[in-house]
Amino acid sequence: MKRAHRFDVVVIGAGGAGLMAARYAAQNPNVSVAVITKLYPTRSHTGAAQGGVGAALGNVTEDRAEWHAFDTIKGGDYLTDQDVAELFSHEVIEAVYELEHMGLPFSRTPDGRIAQRKFGGHTREFGKSAVERACYAADRTGHMILQTLYQQSIKDDVAFFNEFYVLDLIIEGGECRGAVAFELATGELHTFHAKSTIIATGGNGRMFKVTSNAHALTGDLMSIAYRRGIPIEDPEFYQFHPTGLYKLGVLLTEGARGEGGILRNADGERFMERYAPSIKDLAPRDMVSRAMYLEIREGRGAGPEKDYIYLDLTHIDAAIIEERLPDITEFARIYLGVDPVTEMVPIQPTAHYAMGGIPTTIDTNVISDGRNTIVGGLYAAGEVACASLHGANRLGTNSLGDLIVFGRRAGIRAAAHAAGAEYGPLPSDNQDASRELLERLRAGPRTERVAHLRRELQDSMQDNASVFRTQELLEKQVGILADIKARMLHIGCEDPGQQYNTELMEAVELGFLYDNAEQLVFAALNRTESRGAHSREDHRERDDTDWLKHTLIYKDGDGVRIDYKPVTMGKYEPKPRIY
Ligand code: FUM
Repeated sequence: MKRAHRFDVVVIGAGGAGLMAARYAAQNPNVSVAVITKLYPTRSHTGAAQGGVGAALGNVTEDRAEWHAFDTIKGGDYLTDQDVAELFSHEVIEAVYELEHMGLPFSRTPDGRIAQRKFGGHTREFGKSAVERACYAADRTGHMILQTLYQQSIKDDVAFFNEFYVLDLIIEGGECRGAVAFELATGELHTFHAKSTIIATGGNGRMFKVTSNAHALTGDLMSIAYRRGIPIEDPEFYQFHPTGLYKLGVLLTEGARGEGGILRNADGERFMERYAPSIKDLAPRDMVSRAMYLEIREGRGAGPEKDYIYLDLTHIDAAIIEERLPDITEFARIYLGVDPVTEMVPIQPTAHYAMGGIPTTIDTNVISDGRNTIVGGLYAAGEVACASLHGANRLGTNSLGDLIVFGRRAGIRAAAHAAGAEYGPLPSDNQDASRELLERLRAGPRTERVAHLRRELQDSMQDNASVFRTQELLEKQVGILADIKARMLHIGCEDPGQQYNTELMEAVELGFLYDNAEQLVFAALNRTESRGAHSREDHRERDDTDWLKHTLIYKDGDGVRIDYKPVTMGKYEPKPRIY
């Protein structure tokens, strides 16, 4: 295979955002489109998204885009850019219908419309009561999105480069000209020369020990962009999903609570009644995860070590469980030997979603500072990006909504840009940094092992930087990260081979994970307030006077530099979040 490629639009990542971007870029007859992905597209992590995509279709009860926007802003603890939420809540309706027309097999209401169910933080009439807004395909919604979009992309002649690991972005004079990638099958470097490059590589949950994220989610492009001078926005806001399978972190959809599931402590108490009296188990995830930890901390956790909570579905009709929640029912049976139809399922919060990411405009252009300076030809969408939709805490179902709305916008805009642009000259040394990185890792002394350092990183991030944080814990984590960074110089690679050298790629990914952890910890230490998913026990209140602003964290030599970006406000003034 040749190792130099030219495409008008190159998409990095083949999950929902990447495939949506590729599909919509490919609708433009004047551009060629390629997707580079480190997995096979249908194995992308979007396939693990279960419960639904939130859109105010109003198929079950009355609903309005305006209510969805308000819920998103309130759920995000007012750090959401309000223009983005308004646009999103309207465009997601169109995007869902487009997916339906592409053939996505949604579950159906008795009269044949797209079925919808309740999800945390989604309400009618600005918080009055929970609303059925999540459009779902049983508990396989993400899987169905992925299959549908992959089929469409194949039909549209998108070129796929599977099992290619992107190692670098080619950025010259404030403009992106493509990317450099490692081909796993051959060990060779490839240069992808592009007019428009779209980053859509998903999240970074593998920096924590207990996570719902697939092994591939090592924050690669959040690290590469950061190394290339692009800041990361709001990395301190990291979401823990309340219902991960105990010790494993495998996701059990919030749709289970949407169907009537209840969280109970060791005494069998429905404790969410004390924390969110109005919407109880369907409160936003940050509140539910904190409540679960508090129950455990106060001795009301279940099990021999009193360290888990129960998800109780036993009162729900078995036929409904089997029809609407088939996958999670199997997960509980297979992994824990527990049958949700008759037994309560042990669960714990699991690292799930990065609200922050590579900063973009509402049109998905990547920006490089708080004045919204655009990096030419570079776009980002989905979890890797931060269009400031989710603020300090994302509502369930808004991730699938995000990737279809902003994936589509990125594809359309990137294609339009490419159609009117020339290829910028490619620097002759574009592969040098990647080659040096690989050579250093291959030749390293091997006195430290990648797997050990990764485990230390994950364990310590879980202990010191997860649901509850303090200055003391975060400073301890800064010290641990410094130690890991120094020891990373001593890793190496036992496998000298060129083909399928996954050991070499794991060493590369450790560096990416480290950068992601560094971004999160320094930003969390800096933000001396509690907001959304960022809960500081030494600064318990939200502080709108000093902290109603986005973080931008830059790599600065061997350290970091922090700057800020204003939140775009609108008609909703920040209020206390009561549910
Ligand atoms: O609970 C879930 O099904 C996850 C949905 C989401 O993260 O949006």
